[in-house]
Amino acid sequence: MDKIAIQGGARLEGTIRVNGAKNAALPIMAASLLADGPSAIDSLPDVVDVHTLIKVLETLGVRHERDGNASITLEVVDHEPVTAPYDLVRQMRGSICVLGPLVARRGQARVSLPGGCAIGVRPIDLHRKGLEALGAATTIEHGYVVASAADGLRGSSIFLGGPFGSTVLGTANTLMAAALADGVTVIESAACEPEIADLALFLTNMGASIEGAGSPTMRIKGVRSLRGTRHTIIPDRIEAATFMVAAAMTRGNVVIENIRLEHLGAVADILRRAGAEVTPLGHDACRVVGPDKLTPVDVTTLPYPGVPTDVQAQLMAMLCIADGISVVTEKIYPDRFMHVPELQRMGAVLHKEGAAVIVHGVPALSGAQVMASDLRASASLILAGLVAQGTTELSRVYHLDRGYERIEERLRAIGADIRRYDDGQEPTNKPKD
Ligand code: EPU
Repeated sequence: MDKIAIQGGARLEGTIRVNGAKNAALPIMAASLLADGPSAIDSLPDVVDVHTLIKVLETLGVRHERDGNASITLEVVDHEPVTAPYDLVRQMRGSICVLGPLVARRGQARVSLPGGCAIGVRPIDLHRKGLEALGAATTIEHGYVVASAADGLRGSSIFLGGPFGSTVLGTANTLMAAALADGVTVIESAACEPEIADLALFLTNMGASIEGAGSPTMRIKGVRSLRGTRHTIIPDRIEAATFMVAAAMTRGNVVIENIRLEHLGAVADILRRAGAEVTPLGHDACRVVGPDKLTPVDVTTLPYPGVPTDVQAQLMAMLCIADGISVVTEKIYPDRFMHVPELQRMGAVLHKEGAAVIVHGVPALSGAQVMASDLRASASLILAGLVAQGTTELSRVYHLDRGYERIEERLRAIGADIRRYDDGQEPTNKPKD
């Protein structure tokens, strides 16, 4: 199995390019289930979660054709299958985004329940609430959520807020179902994340009628059918934020291309308060210059446009070496702290108090053998390794590959001393100890 070894201490310098957003790509690919005719999707990230969804779509009668690494054409060739099986859904909880399209277009869906995961419980009650408001019947049977709407879906008013704000994929499922429902749907407390706005743009280009995407109130006028279209996925704001943090904490000077800084206001604000310079360059690039010493900053994750939960672990890695005490509070997934014990193995001084962690900055981290538990925790351990003294060896790298494409090659190109190698063998290009 692959591992990643990092020799800390290098300043990152140069230009790095952000790929298309995994979390926009997944619901957009699922939306191809709604279309009559092929859809072409560009700027698709070459990551494991995308490959997993391609497999799910294959089982659902969708044919795909890759055009180079970053483009794919998806076309439904069989409208009969309605089951997304456990073996695929358990690999990626995002597979739940086929639920809405299936029930809307095929009248029935059987999608394995995603279950819990390293970042905490992942309920789907709001997904069910959205579909039920549109007239679907939903039940849980043998580990599957079963939704049916034999007589079609009807537009309705739906409040989608939950205990931790809105739901991103719950909004996506309700929006996709409403696009083919009979009549007008109003979603209140809709997720405002840019990935939802990107999905709405894709659906609109397929012929859907949607107002208010990207705001808490969306109004959808159902149409009879949707056609295939061509779409370019937005840049991945979480990957971009990961590179911004990497530049800030390594005293780096990095130009980040294919970035939408307007999607990253909260992250840029945190980095500036920590002492980094974040300078826009034209409309789709920015430069991040890290300070000699980072200033501590309190961070609270929130739904968009707040600090994304998907950047919490990376920001915590940065604050581990800030000059003082920071408090990191998680308001989306209160248990998303699997990186804490691993960062502690690297010398970080962290005290967990409920859904918050008090971070006592230390002058330096020390390289250690650490284990990835989930995608963003892996990214935070890579970042910690970039500044740690000595070598950090990260195992369970497959978590990282779910959402970052060849991250070690791209960080190496801007000066990181980082190599991937096969477990059980000496790394071919292991950094010097
Ligand atoms: N929630 C409910 N009921 C539901 C659905 C969600 O209570 O029916 C709760 C969740 O437990 C959580 C909160 O609502 O406390 C928000 O969850 P949400 O539904 O928004 O998460 P998601 O749509 O399943 C997406 C991303 C996650 C990201 C979250 C939050 C994709 C494929 N996944 O998940 O991304 O953390 O939104 O922004 O878009 C990642 O990329 O590493 C990742 C985990």
